[in-house]
Amino acid sequence: MTPKHITDFISIADIPRDVLWDWLRMAKALKEEWQAGGNKPILKGKILGMVFQKPSLRTRVSFDVGMRHLGGEALYLSPQEIRLGERETVADAAAVLSGYVHGIMARVFAHSDILQLAEHATVPVINGLSDFNHPCQAFCDMFTLYEHWHWQDLAGRRLVFVGDGNNVARSLVFAGSKMGMRVTVCTPPGYEIEDAVIERARAFASESGGEVVVSHDPRKAVRGADVIYTDVWASMGQEAEAEQRRRVFRPYQVNRDLVEASGNPNVLVMHCLPAHRGEEITDEVIDGPHSIVFRQAHNRLHGQKAILVALLG
Ligand code: CP
Ligand code: NVA
Repeated sequence: MTPKHITDFISIADIPRDVLWDWLRMAKALKEEWQAGGNKPILKGKILGMVFQKPSLRTRVSFDVGMRHLGGEALYLSPQEIRLGERETVADAAAVLSGYVHGIMARVFAHSDILQLAEHATVPVINGLSDFNHPCQAFCDMFTLYEHWHWQDLAGRRLVFVGDGNNVARSLVFAGSKMGMRVTVCTPPGYEIEDAVIERARAFASESGGEVVVSHDPRKAVRGADVIYTDVWASMGQEAEAEQRRRVFRPYQVNRDLVEASGNPNVLVMHCLPAHRGEEITDEVIDGPHSIVFRQAHNRLHGQKAILVALLG
């Protein structure tokens, strides 16, 4: 059961470990129910407003389809429509939307926008990515690993993120540390996750029996990894830095050499997608036997259904 005080999903850091586990088990049940013929219409009559300041394939489609599977509906509001914070204040948009829809999922640039939405909306708000974090991605990634390892505990597994200390990396560090995983974040110098985030994740790890390590050496970092995870070197909004980042991040490419450096014949490779093939990950790896990236993408649907039921149900 989701405690009454949890009304939004803005950061994995805000969600207690036992609630994350309830949601993971609910995602499993919903996926199994769907595979057996379809979900019960638990969200019949409910409408999710989906506000986007940035493009999306997975987040947009998986939330929309997830609502339909559960008997509800979703409204896509493109970057040209609401123009959150531009055409009117975030607070006004939140107040107005709250009278029309039963929940808001938003993808924003500034993290302060999602915080303001949550503060001023009277319906649940789900963070569909900000410049700071991507909690739905990390939650669904935990679901993919839970499923891959036959519904066993995730504690003690070694998750190594190689690349930019970005939104996806921050949420993964929070998720992994909450689940008792041994998380390493390997970035070039100058692209690390902020100390405050690492310290907070270390506090979660000390409760869960996990650990959080930072590194600049990809070959050393991946040694003994159960999972190697990467993401683009230039995120949405950083296009102007792409060329310079390509030079800095070159040694952090997830290629066959790096996968072999794990020394684990069963190592898994994950990527939130979209990928810039040939940059942070090679074709050979993303299409190779270690990669679970497409199952990972498909599980956005199943993981997020649990979040929708928990918050809108
Ligand atoms: N991984 C992810 O969130 O993909 P989209 O940007 O396509 O939604
Ligand atoms: N870090 C990437 C993730 C995309 C899902 C971005 O923000 O563009």
